[in-house]
Amino acid sequence: MRHFQLCILLLFWASVSVAREGMWVPVLLHQNIEEMHEMGFRLNVEDIYSDDNASMKDAVVQFGGGCTGELISPEGLLVTNYHCGYRQIQQHSSLVNDYLTNGFWAMERSEELPNPGLTVTFLIRMEDVTKSVFEGTDTLENQLEIERIKNENIPKILADVEVDSLHNKTIKPFFEGNQYFLIITETFKDVRLVGAPPSAIGKFGGDTDNWMWPRHTGDFSLFRIYADKNNRPAEYSPDNVPYKPRHFFPIDIGGISEGDFTMIFGFPGRTSEYLPSDAIEMILEHRNPNRISIRDIKLDILRKAMENNAENRIKYAAKYASTSNAWKKWQGEINGLRRLNAVERKRQNEALYLEWVKTNNSKTEEYGHILPMFDSLYTLFEPRQQAYDLYTETWYRGIDLYRLFSVIQSIINTADEFDTAYYTEEIQNHFKDCSFDVDRKLFTELCGNYFQQASKNFLTQALKNLFLSDNTSKKLERIYDQSILTDTTALLSLVRNAKIKRLGNKLKRDKLYQLMKIVSEQYNGVIYPDYYDTKEAIDQNQQQYITALFEMNRGKRMYPDANFTLRVSYGKIEGYTPRDAVIYNHYTTIKGIMEKDNPEIYDYNVSDKLEQLYKENDFGIYGKADGTMPVCFTASNHTTGGNSGSPVIDANGNLIGINFDRCWEGTMSDMMFDPDKCRNIALDMRYMLFIIDKFADAGYLLEEMKLIK
Ligand code: ARG
Ligand code: ASP
Repeated sequence: MRHFQLCILLLFWASVSVAREGMWVPVLLHQNIEEMHEMGFRLNVEDIYSDDNASMKDAVVQFGGGCTGELISPEGLLVTNYHCGYRQIQQHSSLVNDYLTNGFWAMERSEELPNPGLTVTFLIRMEDVTKSVFEGTDTLENQLEIERIKNENIPKILADVEVDSLHNKTIKPFFEGNQYFLIITETFKDVRLVGAPPSAIGKFGGDTDNWMWPRHTGDFSLFRIYADKNNRPAEYSPDNVPYKPRHFFPIDIGGISEGDFTMIFGFPGRTSEYLPSDAIEMILEHRNPNRISIRDIKLDILRKAMENNAENRIKYAAKYASTSNAWKKWQGEINGLRRLNAVERKRQNEALYLEWVKTNNSKTEEYGHILPMFDSLYTLFEPRQQAYDLYTETWYRGIDLYRLFSVIQSIINTADEFDTAYYTEEIQNHFKDCSFDVDRKLFTELCGNYFQQASKNFLTQALKNLFLSDNTSKKLERIYDQSILTDTTALLSLVRNAKIKRLGNKLKRDKLYQLMKIVSEQYNGVIYPDYYDTKEAIDQNQQQYITALFEMNRGKRMYPDANFTLRVSYGKIEGYTPRDAVIYNHYTTIKGIMEKDNPEIYDYNVSDKLEQLYKENDFGIYGKADGTMPVCFTASNHTTGGNSGSPVIDANGNLIGINFDRCWEGTMSDMMFDPDKCRNIALDMRYMLFIIDKFADAGYLLEEMKLIK
């Protein structure tokens, strides 16, 4: 019996490394390469990652901290998603030069637009330093003691690593601190905007289609990396020259077929594939529903405000998009986890784990406590997580005015040597994207909800008087209307003239300011410390759990959760079956754009020129042999947030697509990957080239690219 169970157990955990699932560390790819070859890949590990020779990794960058980009020319031309460059494109736009509506194309190098603050980072080298980090911990048993030694070792190891003065070095934990890598990077700071389609193409489908397949979004934008005369990173200067990369991706326009090998090379942000059942249950039953319900309030207010008001639409477009992105994903995640029976599945695995733990005494002693510990920690954690989310979703991400409150608070705190120009600009920025009706609604509704949800213990007597009586929303409106924080002229005049004392005196009597002050004190004094304590204990337990899983799976492949480091995912081009009797094709065409065309729906507004090209079948060399124009495709690569903009690479190492999203039925892949339903969504390179060449008449940009038919 025991033997039989052990067999099932091995089968179970083997699923950890089922083909298509996993975000693999590039320096450890030798464990995958055979399987990659079986799936059709024609190159070797050295072609993907090499310390000594040029390899694909030299053409992949972390773009702006949260996305990925890749080099597509020997002159530093870089492509990423439209939604990754959105902020830059928006910042360059004005009513006169409305690049959002019309697109932007630099007709020559001198027209490329600098973007202060935007950086791209290359991985130079990475190395497993786990042994050195754990040095001197062999005989220790106390977890805290082990962590202390590790934390002492890390700076020592770093101090001994010699790097170029323009490189950065860091040591990052993998597998929750069971493995460590030294990571050396190079960051470029002069990154200029080269081209972007109009948002009716780059954001086609908008929030309506977001996280969905079939998709028709031309989600790309082009930038160029500039370097000094020695090809090294430098601050922006008109004297800088286009960066010459060690490698760039040729673009294959020969076409794709279902079943073709695909690989994604990029910087996935965060996943949590090894969570226990208790955590999944908490997220499924409490965390996601709580966060969704708070965002419902905000999104409802914004939707109504934007519906028939062009000014509000501009002011709140970016806020709406970023609020709705995670809101929608959490809903997909709930559906997916339920469909997979995720909690039950995890419980079955845990039963097998306990079986394994019982196979000998030393294992019981070392690992027997972990699951019961999770059980009690998550019971303690759930209300704390809830309080934390309620705060962050309401104040930090919900009520825009709360940011203004923090700005004013730091003015008061830095009274003596405060920077008038800086703070004036901060305040102006707040009011620029603010419409008072909307802002007031956000405050009264979200704040009202906050105190209804928050435990009554949090309410001071003053707040009780306010909230435990009738007419709360009328009272909140009055507080809002009477506050100096909502009086643009008075506030700016005090700050501009550095009348800080007067401002301070006014704030003492300002009910809105005082209310937010109480909120922030409660967060810093109670909510956060409680949350953090338990979170830390959970993280430590999770670390030991992974140690145990390592031992249990000895000889098997496991991949570490995403942590913003460079990873490889591989799979195939394939469609999927979302539900009974429905089969999704693996690619979409321009015909689908025309089918969606609907001037009534903002997200489905097709540009006239695109329609014209479609009617004339004018697809240049980019259309398919059957006369259609491909737009997007799906593949079974394991991806997450941060993978946006990642190159989709074919069996020969050429670029066939740019990753930008996942499908609705697969949004739970950050916690549980389903090879049948999890698909990443990519833009077909041919559609990008068609837009540049035929739509935008910027074909000169193609001259520096290398196209392969
Ligand atoms: N869902 C994609 C990702 O997580 C795209 C988001 C941008 N698009 C949008 N409509 N909000 O980043
Ligand atoms: N859209 C995501 C991003 O911006 C990618 C994803 O979550 O699949 O990184």
